[in-house]
Amino acid sequence: MAEKITAVELAKQQREISVSEFFTKNRHLLGFDNPRKALLMAVKEAVDNALDVTLESKILPDVYIELNQIKEDRFRVIVEDNGPGIVKDQIPKIFGKLLYGSKFHRLRQSMGQQGIGISAVLLYGQLTTGKGMQITSKISSKKPANFYEIQIDTQKNQPIIIDEKIVEWDKDNGTRVEIEIEGIYQKGRQSVDEYVKEIALINPHAQITYKMPDGEKIEYKRAVNELPKESKEIKPHPYGVELGILIRMLQSTNANTTAGFLQSEFSRISQNIAYEICEKAKINPKSKPNNLSGEEAESLYKSIQDTKIIAPPTDCLSPLGEEALLKGIKKEIDAEFYCAVSRSPSVYRGMPFAIEVAIAFGGNLEKDGQVRVMRFANRVPLLYQQGACSTTESIIETAWRNYGLSQSKDSLPIGPAAIIVHMVSVWVPFTSEAKEAIAHYPEIIKDMKLALQDCGRKLSSYIRKTFKAKEQKEKIDLFEKYIPELAASLGDLSEEKKMIIEENLRKILKKGLKDLLNGIEEAEELEG
Ligand SMILES: Nc1ncnc2c1ncn2[C@@H]1O[C@H](COP(=O)(O)OP(=O)(O)O)[C@@H](O)[C@H]1O
Ligand SMILES: [Mg+2]
Repeated sequence: MAEKITAVELAKQQREISVSEFFTKNRHLLGFDNPRKALLMAVKEAVDNALDVTLESKILPDVYIELNQIKEDRFRVIVEDNGPGIVKDQIPKIFGKLLYGSKFHRLRQSMGQQGIGISAVLLYGQLTTGKGMQITSKISSKKPANFYEIQIDTQKNQPIIIDEKIVEWDKDNGTRVEIEIEGIYQKGRQSVDEYVKEIALINPHAQITYKMPDGEKIEYKRAVNELPKESKEIKPHPYGVELGILIRMLQSTNANTTAGFLQSEFSRISQNIAYEICEKAKINPKSKPNNLSGEEAESLYKSIQDTKIIAPPTDCLSPLGEEALLKGIKKEIDAEFYCAVSRSPSVYRGMPFAIEVAIAFGGNLEKDGQVRVMRFANRVPLLYQQGACSTTESIIETAWRNYGLSQSKDSLPIGPAAIIVHMVSVWVPFTSEAKEAIAHYPEIIKDMKLALQDCGRKLSSYIRKTFKAKEQKEKIDLFEKYIPELAASLGDLSEEKKMIIEENLRKILKKGLKDLLNGIEEAEELEG
C-alpha cells in the first residue's frame, strides 16, 4: 500500500500566495489572454489613468499615445499626459505593486477602480519581455522631472527599482509611461485604433494624439472646451452593504455609539433613522459599535433592510449629457441622423448610476447586417465580451421593429445604425477584473431599456418622415417622366390646349413637391 501523506508533510507545502503571483498565473483575469488584447490593455490602462487624473485635477486633458513595433510580436507602448504628475516616493508603489491606488476605497465615478490597472501592465510586460517599465513624471515647472525604471518582485508584490534619476523635461507637469511588451497589432474591431477612436468619442473634452506603428499620426481634436461636471465621492448607502462588510465596519469604526456609527459611515441616515434602526434591532443606540456581538450585528443588518431610507444622492455622478454625447458621436461617426438620451440617475444595490444612449443612423453606416453596438462604462470603451454584457441584453430585449429597424427573435436589430450605451456609476459592476462587461442587475437593465426606447422613438419618427418623403419623391419623378407623353397623347387637341394641360399638371407636381420639402424640413428639425 502507498504510504500516507501526513498533515505535517502537507503543511510544508502550504504557504501564502502573493497577489502578483496569482495574477501572473491568471493573467487572463486581467484581460491579458492573448497578444492582441494585451496591446490594447496596455494602452487602455495608461490612458484611463491619464484621463482620470486630469479630470480629478481639473486639467483639460492632452494625451499622447505611441506604438512602436520592435519585432513581429513586440511593441513599445508610450503614453504621456499633462496631468499633475506623481510625487517621487509614490512612483515605485503605483507602478510596481498590484492593488495599490487611490480609487478602490472610495465611491466615486472614475475609469479605474481596483488599483490593479497600470501595475498589471508592468507585470505582463515583465513576464513577456523580462524588462521593466520606464516612468517620467514632473509635478511642477519649478522642479525637475523624476525618472524611474521599475520591475515587480512578484513573490512579495513589491517594486524593484532598476534605475532612478533626475532628468530634464520640457513640460511643466505630467507623466510619461513607456513599456515593451509582447503584443500583436491588427486593425479592425477590438483594435487599439478602434479603442482610441471610441475613447475620443466618449471624452469629447480630451485632445488625443495617436501615433500608429506605421508612423502615421491621428489627431483627435477636443470638441468640448469645458471639463465634465465634477463627480463627487459619496458614502455607501445602507441598502447596498452586505453583512460581512457591516461587521468589518463596526469593528474598525472610530464612532463611539452605534447610532453615531450609522450616521457617520453611511449616506442618508439621520439621527432619527439611526435611532429607529437601533430600536428595531433591540440595540441600545448609545452602545459601543466595536463591542456588538455577531448576533447583534445581524439584527442591525436586518433592521436596516426593514427601515425606509431615502435613495442615495445622485448628483455625485457625471454623465456626459445629451449635448456632449451628440458632439462626440457626430465627430466620430459619419451618419445622416443622430439622437441621444441621458436619463436621470437610478440606484442598484445602494449604488447610484445613470444610463445614456445615443443612436447614429444612415449615411456611411453599413446597411446590411446587425447594427453596430458601442458600449461604455464611466467614459471607457468596452471592446470585449459584448455577448456577456447587460447593454447587449438590453438592446436585444428592445422591440426595434416598433422603431423602424428589422430584428429577429433574440438578436440585435438589423440596419444602418450604431447604438451607443453608456453607464456611469460610483461603482460599475463588472463581471471580472478585466472590466469588459457590465453585470446583469435588473435595475440596470430596466434603465438601459427605457433609454433605448426613448432614443428608439426619436429614430422612428425620423425614419418615418424621411421614408415617406423618399416614397413621395419617387412617385413625383415617375409622374414627371410621363407628362410630355401624356400631353402628346392628347394629340388631337390644339397646341394651346396641350400647353394648358401640361401647365396644370406641373402645378399639381409643384404642390406635391412642396409637401415633400416640408416633410424633409420637419425631419431635419428633428435631427438638429
Ligand atoms: N498618469 C498618472 N498620473 C498621476 N497618477 C497616476 C497616474 N497613473 C496612475 N496614477 C495613480 O496610481 C494609482 C494606481 O493606478 P492603477 O494601477 O491604474 O489603478 P486604478 O486606476 O484602478 O486606481 C491611481 O489610483 C492613481 O492614484
Ligand atoms: Mg487605472
